[in-house]
Amino acid sequence: MPDPAPAAPPDQPPQVIDYEGSDYQQRFWETGERAYEDLAERIALRKLLPPAGRRLVEFGAAFGRLADLYAGYQQVLLLDYSRSLLRQAQERLGVGGRFVYVAANLYKLPLAAGVVDTAVMVRVMHHLADVPAALGQIHRAIAPGGAFVAEYASKRHLKAMARYALRRQTWSPYDLAPYEFVPLNFDFHPTWMSGELHAAGFDIELELAVSHFRMPLLKRLVPANRLAAADGAVQGIGALWKLTPSIFVRCAAPGARPASLPASLFQCPECAGALTPGADSLDCTACGCRWSTGGGLYDFKEPMPGA
Ligand SMILES: C[S@@+](CC[C@H](N)C(=O)[O-])C[C@H]1O[C@@H](n2cnc3c(N)ncnc32)[C@H](O)[C@@H]1O
Ligand SMILES: [Zn+2]
Repeated sequence: MPDPAPAAPPDQPPQVIDYEGSDYQQRFWETGERAYEDLAERIALRKLLPPAGRRLVEFGAAFGRLADLYAGYQQVLLLDYSRSLLRQAQERLGVGGRFVYVAANLYKLPLAAGVVDTAVMVRVMHHLADVPAALGQIHRAIAPGGAFVAEYASKRHLKAMARYALRRQTWSPYDLAPYEFVPLNFDFHPTWMSGELHAAGFDIELELAVSHFRMPLLKRLVPANRLAAADGAVQGIGALWKLTPSIFVRCAAPGARPASLPASLFQCPECAGALTPGADSLDCTACGCRWSTGGGLYDFKEPMPGA
């Protein structure tokens, strides 16, 4: 489990989980133990994602596990707080083509307003200590008429309900407040999450309940593709009850789709000022911060020294 970064002072953005240097790709996805979850999530995303568009951003994209699903988009921004995971994405997907790699914090997005048609965020919400703050930033980045496809970990799943009924867990899956089961790892009540999405300005269009069969014995006995296909068959109807550990949702940003998206992708994450290109940086015309663009990575984690 990656370490939480040191606690932030009160006037600073919330604490962020630190995947820098983590072996997430190898440890979590390449052992084969989560082949079922990977396939079930892809089935859900194919149902929810607008298949084509001008520009898409994936928040918390890590090493780009899901990037092949964005083939219908002209430009794809892969944004993550971890530079090392983005470097792995670059190795897998290449530099200089449709993919734009952005190291940044969701709580301080460097994206210009209304810059994408579609935003995706999978397996990231559960790391967010301040969901409303992040949703506010995400909403600003999506153009009117655009889509936000998000996944979150639910606290009100069947196993938690059974454990609570049998008094084998103390926390209630029915309590609306997020539950932090280890530092910077949260499960959410679907009703609470729907309220936060609405409060951020999104309309919920479609929900899917995913990973009905996330059980070690079943995963051992049934091939991953068959189990995922079975999950796919009940994701829609399952959303009526939402008893799975993972919920996917497609939200719409209200308004009329603009004829074109802003040409400039970025603004200064410190002051929202305009950025002008330097030799290996983007330089803020308002506050003077300089942001590195070396190695095909737009790096907005910290300004370059001497700015
Ligand atoms: C569990 S991984 C999921 C990766 C990918 N979405 C997937 O499903 O394979 C969570 C990712 O979210 C990123 N992340 C967490 N908090 C973030 C934040 N505040 N800003 C940007 N990225 C963040 C982490 O660096 C990590 O790569
Ligand atoms: Zn600035």
